[in-house]
Amino acid sequence: MADGTDTKSSNQMWGGRFASGPAAIMEEINASIGFDKKLFAQDIRGSIAHATMLAHQGIISTEDKDKIVHGLNTILSEIEAGNFEFSRSLEDIHMNVESRLAALVGPAAGRLHTARSRNDQVALDFRLWVKEELQKCEQALTGLIAAFLDRAEEHADTVMPGFTHMQTAQPVTFGHHCMAYVEMFGRDRSRVRHAIEHMDESPIGAAALAGTGFPIDRHMTAKALGFREPTRNSIDTVSDRDFAIEFLSIAAIAGMHLSRLAEEIVIWSTPQFGFVRLSDAFSTGSSIMPQKKNPDAAELVRAKTGRINGSLVALLTIMKGLPLAYSKDMQEDKEQVFDAAESLELAIAAMTGMVRDMTINAARMKAAAGSGYSTATDLADWLVREAGLPFRDAHHVTGRAVALAESKSCDLADLSLAELQAIHPDITDKIFSVLTVEASVASRKSFGGTAPSEVRKQIAFWRARN
Ligand code: ARG
Repeated sequence: MADGTDTKSSNQMWGGRFASGPAAIMEEINASIGFDKKLFAQDIRGSIAHATMLAHQGIISTEDKDKIVHGLNTILSEIEAGNFEFSRSLEDIHMNVESRLAALVGPAAGRLHTARSRNDQVALDFRLWVKEELQKCEQALTGLIAAFLDRAEEHADTVMPGFTHMQTAQPVTFGHHCMAYVEMFGRDRSRVRHAIEHMDESPIGAAALAGTGFPIDRHMTAKALGFREPTRNSIDTVSDRDFAIEFLSIAAIAGMHLSRLAEEIVIWSTPQFGFVRLSDAFSTGSSIMPQKKNPDAAELVRAKTGRINGSLVALLTIMKGLPLAYSKDMQEDKEQVFDAAESLELAIAAMTGMVRDMTINAARMKAAAGSGYSTATDLADWLVREAGLPFRDAHHVTGRAVALAESKSCDLADLSLAELQAIHPDITDKIFSVLTVEASVASRKSFGGTAPSEVRKQIAFWRARN
């Protein structure tokens, strides 16, 4: 059968497991319309800019240009209204649009493809799409940063344990911890901004790979499409997917940050920690264990990171063996980017909601902050400052105090002055003022430190930076 769906037409030797003949298999592997229809708006915008430039340069007539532009706008409304029939035999979005244009405006449609190729057309459409996606990410990250700034402000004085090796290290403030995420997502946002800068060049007019003999004006199309300038090398233009890989790299790094946050939320919301309580909106119950409140949204954010990493590795692998310029392998770039973009957008939105909605249990945080001898460093620092001990000796003395407290199952602050003086005679009762968690955090006023006064400076910095 002409459409290749007849089993009898499949190859006698190797066609046994295929329900269809070579033509249908070819169509199935070749067609990208199933996913690149997502690029319809970019494709139409690009074609309108191209046709307008062709007419301005006298390459096509104004009448033809008007017909083309009118037809393209009709197609845009048809697709937006869901009244457009996409055809797989027309392969991709570019040919689907062009074929419909021919049906709508007749021979003028055939002039649209003058001085361009699907190679520069797809590079343009995809770049426009990725650029818009990066702009969305910038907005979304700004929203997440704002959520953290609000929580940091609210909890600039809330003491919690700081961890290294997941062991209680020194007391910090929850506000300070929130600001660590502001730094991380702030770097992601600046990577997004740089990527927009990098990719802000228009591919259209590179044609198949060598440019064109028609007197086109690539600066005009670049400007019309909101790019800073046209790309400079036509071979590179049609073979480059760095903009997509850069997007995926940024997404992978941001995803890694989101996943670390997700992991902390999972830990903090366990009954054993009880630092935070997730809102009902971002957790689920168990069908069998009524006491449970599961952090599903955080877990799924943690998992989405795996998909994003997979997309990055997939596209790097697709590209790494390709000779210049365009090869059909590059058609496989889109699904990776679309999937990663969806995962990233969703993960940022879910995290923003979770951070804004979660209830902080300051009492639990404070109790945990004081356990595990978290102010041991403060004791050692006091010995250096007040008793003039070298830090290494102070560390040793403090270790003995911790061992004593441990043997008595009490906190450092519960040891008596006599017990402490037995360890080192220069210790006075002033030591007790540094052994509380509040005194500990308030003393850490070094630039970027955890003292509430410093945390407030960090918040002010980021509020002004937005
Ligand atoms: N669907 C193709 C893609 O996504 C468009 C470019 C096809 N160019 C070609 N010469 N076959 O890459």
